[in-house]
Order: sequence, then structure tokens, then C-alpha cells
Amino acid sequence: MTKIVNDNVAEYYDRQSQHYVELVRDQSAYRREISRRELAFVLKHLKPNAKVLEIGCGPGFFTRELVKRAESVMATDISEKMVNALQKRVSASNLSTMCVDVYDLDKVPHYGEYDTVVCMRVLCHVDDAGRGLSKLRGAIHPQGNVIFDLLNDFSYIHFGRKLLGRPLRHTKYYPVKTMRKLIEQAGFEVTDSFGRGYPYIGGMTLDKIGYQILPDLAHGVGFNIIPVS
Ligand SMILES: C[S@@+](CC[C@H](N)C(=O)[O-])C[C@H]1O[C@@H](n2cnc3c(N)ncnc32)[C@H](O)[C@@H]1O
Repeated sequence: MTKIVNDNVAEYYDRQSQHYVELVRDQSAYRREISRRELAFVLKHLKPNAKVLEIGCGPGFFTRELVKRAESVMATDISEKMVNALQKRVSASNLSTMCVDVYDLDKVPHYGEYDTVVCMRVLCHVDDAGRGLSKLRGAIHPQGNVIFDLLNDFSYIHFGRKLLGRPLRHTKYYPVKTMRKLIEQAGFEVTDSFGRGYPYIGGMTLDKIGYQILPDLAHGVGFNIIPVS
């Protein structure tokens, strides 16, 4: 595994790597529902037989599904321990890994030739999302696509930041409106999105509140973007 990193987010996720799967993914039906929605969005936009570059793969929640469908997957993360955790959890002949910061993506083999880039739950950790997006833009060929998300405007993480007056979990706040401008500036257009980023109440029945309002507050706002031709 090649290693190119330079950020203390890596240290944070190195510490998280031991417990990340239990902590974030599988603790409740509610969290599983959030993950199910996000995964469905990613798979919807995965090109057939794609050469995939994944950024911020973590221990492989998306990776383990991507390797089943893609021709090849290059899974990358800024945290070496996350990459190690991924290697323990996901084994596939079409999987390669690399420890790299999104800012250094041009060091990844086949940069510029990927069909699909998957970057889920990562850009909220990057201090210059515009620069991050331009690195993602450079990773794909002109017909490629990028699937990514960010924390929605009503995320409890943003409320926590306001209350405590400091960032939580090494995240930065990018309002959805701001991100749409950055997407455009990086030379992309949005073809699909999910997650409203605000509470949805219309047509709601009580039994659905747990799975409709709350996931909307907790999961991200996702985008499928393609280069402007
Ligand atoms: C919230 S976790 C998401 C992991 C995985 N995508 C998932 O959804 O299960 C964020 C991941 O992004 C990685 N990450 C954070 N900043 C990064 C950066 N600048 N470049 C590459 N990876 C980064 C972290 O190490 C961590 O594994």
C-alpha cells in the first residue's frame, strides 16, 4: 500500500478505525436505514463494469458492495488504519488500496481514467471542498461521474458546533447552497440528488416519522455530478 498523507484528520480516523463499524453503522435499525438509502443512491449511479475510485473508503461499507459490481475498485483513505481495517473486512481480486489525502489524488495510478468516483461522507472533513472537488474532477475521464455527499444543513453535528462554538468530529460546515456553487465552479453539473436537507412533514404519518424525518436530518445530501461538456 502506498502512503501519501499530511492531515490530523488521519489521526482522528486512525483512532476511530477500531470501532467505526460498530459505532456508526450497525447500532440500530435507524442507522441501518440511513446506510441503506445512501448505498441505494450510490449503486443507482454506478456505471456498468466501471473502473471505480473511492475516496475516504473507511472500513469498506461502500467498498464491499462496489467490488461486487465494478470491474475494479481503487479504495483510498487518508487514514492508514482505516485502509488496514478495510483490507481485513473486504477481500476481492479487483480491489486495490492506497493511503492518500484527497488533495493528492493525482498521485493515484490511472488518475484521469476512472469511470466513477465515490466519495461518501468525506468532503465534510475537507477544509477546502472546492479544491477537493477539482481533484475529483481530474480523476475521471470526460464521460465519468462523481457520487458524493455532505452533511445536510440541519445535521445535529452542525447544531452541536453552534452550541459548543467549535467544530465537531473534524467537520466543516458547507451549506448545500454553497456546495452547489462549488460544484459549478469545479466544472460539474448535478444530474441527481437525494436528501432534502430540511425536515419533510407533508403527507407524514406518525409511524413513518422515525424513518423519514430523522434520517433526513442525520444522513447527508447526496449528489451525482458529471463534467460540464
Ligand atoms: C465518516 S468516514 C466515512 C467512511 C466511509 N466512506 C463510509 O461511509 O463508511 C470519513 C472517512 O474519510 C476519510 N477522510 C477524511 N478526510 C480525508 C481526506 N482529506 N482525504 C481522504 N480521506 C479522508 C477518513 O479517514 C474516514 O475514513
